[in-house]
Amino acid sequence: MVCLGNICRSPLAEGILRSLVDPETVEVDSAGTAGYHIGNRPDERSIAVARKYGLDISGQRCRKFHSADFASFDRIYAMDLANLRHLQGMARSEEELNKVRLLLDEAMVETREVPDPYYGGPGGFAEVFELISRACHAISEQMESKNSGK
Ligand code: 4NP
Repeated sequence: MVCLGNICRSPLAEGILRSLVDPETVEVDSAGTAGYHIGNRPDERSIAVARKYGLDISGQRCRKFHSADFASFDRIYAMDLANLRHLQGMARSEEELNKVRLLLDEAMVETREVPDPYYGGPGGFAEVFELISRACHAISEQMESKNSGK
């Protein structure tokens, strides 16, 4: 799960998807394309909205996306088009390029991008949670049907 700062959107995506999949078989992580907040906890507003839904994301620490992540992960989800393009630009092969997708392309929602809530109020974080949650449910359902051979 990749956004710009790895403190608002992608920590929520990591926390939500992790809560929906089997930790024995699926590894979920997040990172940012920028390095402004490396080592920091998620934004307090993300921690708060996650807590409202019973998820504790306060133990996450910000890191920057690096090229080795292309080998470590099968799917790399970008929160918006700017981050999608950044990741596509870092890909060194067709295989790496094909791993990169827009998160909301997995969900039946009206927008393709998760808006950046950093400079807005707490309402933005509730909207972001809802959008990310829809996509994460769709992803976990895809994984379940793949595993059950459907
Ligand atoms: P995120 O939000 O990409 O969802 O983590 C942002 C966090 C920090 C900044 C921008 C966006 N920033 O400019 O520091």
